[in-house]
Amino acid sequence: MKISRREFVGRGAALGAVAAVGLRGVAQTAAGVSIRAAGAGRGILAGCAVSVRALRGDAAYKKLLEEQVGIVVAESEFKFGPLRPSPTTYFFEDADFLAAFAEANGMKLRGHNFVWHRQLPKWFDGYVTKENAKQVLVEHIEKVGGRYAGKIHSWDVVNEAIQVSDGLPGGFRDSPWQKVLDGSGTVPEYIAVAFRTARRVDPKAMLVYNDYGIEGEDEGSAKKRAAVMGLLREMQRQKIPLDALGVQSHISAVGKDGRVPVYGAGLMAMIAEVRKMGLKVLVTEMDVNDRYVAAEIGARDAAVAQMYGSYLGTVLQDSAVIAVLTWGITDKYTWLNGEDSRTDGEKERPLPFDAAMQPTAAFAAEVRALQGAPVRG
Ligand code: XIL
Repeated sequence: MKISRREFVGRGAALGAVAAVGLRGVAQTAAGVSIRAAGAGRGILAGCAVSVRALRGDAAYKKLLEEQVGIVVAESEFKFGPLRPSPTTYFFEDADFLAAFAEANGMKLRGHNFVWHRQLPKWFDGYVTKENAKQVLVEHIEKVGGRYAGKIHSWDVVNEAIQVSDGLPGGFRDSPWQKVLDGSGTVPEYIAVAFRTARRVDPKAMLVYNDYGIEGEDEGSAKKRAAVMGLLREMQRQKIPLDALGVQSHISAVGKDGRVPVYGAGLMAMIAEVRKMGLKVLVTEMDVNDRYVAAEIGARDAAVAQMYGSYLGTVLQDSAVIAVLTWGITDKYTWLNGEDSRTDGEKERPLPFDAAMQPTAAFAAEVRALQGAPVRG
């Protein structure tokens, strides 16, 4: 079943058709098909976010990663808080563990992230002031970026800096970094400093601006896309180093209103604009929540797989999209169960492998989308 873009944009779910895809998914894994190989065949890096705790402790999870993925990113272990137990000390053991795992398996490694408003250490407020903020930020990037320099495919230098509802000019988020570094410019100083420092310490890494909520056809997504494009254009105008846009892609099989959300035209127009600016695009954190799908597992998996196929089938049409990572690989460790989970107490099934680490219909849909993508140059 090949879903054309027009079909995808214009219709709701045709769930029944997916059952067959699910069976094929199981067969494909048995035949040794992997997400990594499916992407590699088209010049696309395909992989997932990794929990280092699970990687250390769960042999089946480790094996699944070894079989399946060509690019990895730490779910938390490269973030500011986890790396910085105190203002003067660094904790690198977990990040190093993932870097070594990637290297041993010939996987690319992403860095996520230098700057985010969440997962900051408790000491941040109180220690970081207007006087020392720039120094703290530069030192952090020098130390962390420098440690992994040459080993990182791409760094999410700044994560989620746009939040239109915060009401700041340019749509910028009223983040802790914004508060302590001069935010009056058309590009907030913390963003400019972060990208310039990242380029200096790791000139080989692709530098990425990463954000969510820019995928949909709704008004909120459209506004956020406009603000993100404003930032990217202004960065280019001011010659602030930037190589790619990360589209997180935390999307829904079914929305709160019970409808299948539409992803397509607005996002594709944005990706085309980004491509024309000479930048690449990465799908950095894909998962498809089934929060509002009725309890029956077959229907849930079908709806999730349908969305994997249609979303990836659409975005991969643009050859600026060079990588696809899901946010986790098995439902066993999905972050979604810790967030706004289902109200019926059931666990979510948003990833290509279920909690028993068996491929679901979403796996088959992802593989087929990768295999069907135009070959990258
Ligand atoms: C999430 C992790 O998956 C969780 O384990 C953690 O508690 C919070 O962060 N957007 C991002 C990621 O950019 O860093 C987030 O990861 C998920 C949303």
